[in-house]
Amino acid sequence: MSTANSQHYIDLENQFGAHNYHPLPVVLTKGEGVYVWDVEGNRYFDFLSAYSAVNQGHCHPKIIAALHAQSNRITLTSRAFHNDQLGPFEQYITSLLGYDRVLPMNTGVEGGETAIKLARKWGYTIKGIPQNQAKIVFASGNFWGRTIAAISTSQDPDSYGDFGPFVPGFEIVPYNDLEALDKAFQQGHVAAFMVEPIQGEAGVIVPDDDYLSGVRALCSKYNVLWIADEVQTGLGRTGKMLCTDHAGVKPDIVILGKALGGGVFPVSAVLANHEVMNVLHPGQHGSTFGGNPLACAVAMAALNVLVDEDLPANAEAMGQLFRERLRSINSPLVSTVRGKGLLNAIDIRPFGDGKTAYDVCLALKQNGLLAKQTHTHTIRFAPPLTIDREQIETAADIIANTILTIAK
Ligand SMILES: Cc1ncc(COP(=O)(O)O)c(C=O)c1O
Repeated sequence: MSTANSQHYIDLENQFGAHNYHPLPVVLTKGEGVYVWDVEGNRYFDFLSAYSAVNQGHCHPKIIAALHAQSNRITLTSRAFHNDQLGPFEQYITSLLGYDRVLPMNTGVEGGETAIKLARKWGYTIKGIPQNQAKIVFASGNFWGRTIAAISTSQDPDSYGDFGPFVPGFEIVPYNDLEALDKAFQQGHVAAFMVEPIQGEAGVIVPDDDYLSGVRALCSKYNVLWIADEVQTGLGRTGKMLCTDHAGVKPDIVILGKALGGGVFPVSAVLANHEVMNVLHPGQHGSTFGGNPLACAVAMAALNVLVDEDLPANAEAMGQLFRERLRSINSPLVSTVRGKGLLNAIDIRPFGDGKTAYDVCLALKQNGLLAKQTHTHTIRFAPPLTIDREQIETAADIIANTILTIAK
């Protein structure tokens, strides 16, 4: 346990760190399962799970054991040599998710970059799009990271303002709008449509029930690759292993990240079938750390935990209970409750003297639950998928009591 108090650590970050985040004023030092502790020893429910990177719960013993075991053998080889963890991991994840091949990277945004490179190369070499004319279509409200390519598709001025010039060849259509997608595809030269099955950072925006099957149908009709960004929605978060499983459809390319690293460190992966993945040849894409043996051992354990503990099913059941509890909160503050599995959100109407969702998050923290607002009026609730019924009930009590008392 740390000896200094929270303010000490906050002051250090304020003085020596870049001010590119605005965290809640809590300094965490320990995590176990659905709980985290601050340096003063207070315990909280973690209802953010590091933006869904901790689906398996904090410091899951099997994932930590895999980390320890592998870190005592070998951690990094680069892809200049083979290692004995990469192949077994590739075999496991492709058979688990039903794709021919996988390309491992580190962060989610690198997964997105990889998918776009694959799609462009496929567009030129297989589809026959004239050189440098390939288009990738994105949905409005998308979020896939902070690199120059990722912010080139952003409509959030905080993300893209003063960072131009931007990457060409990207187009945006409204999310959840099949007609607009159809029109964009009719323009030609489209290599891919990249979309989150549920938009996380946009505020947990759940599309209409027929949207994903409609996307699949249009992509097939126009010979356009469908890239599903499942970095946040994947790996059990929404109640199925992949969120696209709810619609019973299969994207051409799937991007995974976050929980693939079991909350331990960054592991991302891009999955596709031979026709797409085989467009890449040695020297055309890579990463020093991608596919490192430690990452592979951790990711394998992270996937095993999801399967062994049937966490997607738990997310489905606990999510339903949680939304029922949120919907029963009788307060004018709550305007909407939405979500799937354990990816949920509520919208908070402004209250008091200009107070917003951020003030609710501060009050939740006082009452022992950590959550983060996304944009001004939305609070996302995404606990680890290991959460049980009793913990959901207790957490829902905290949320209800906080909302009912804060506006008084
Ligand atoms: C849907 C989605 N894609 C990609 C990313 C980027 O992941 P990373 O921060 O690991 O680069 C995020 C991060 O929040 C995300 O939510």
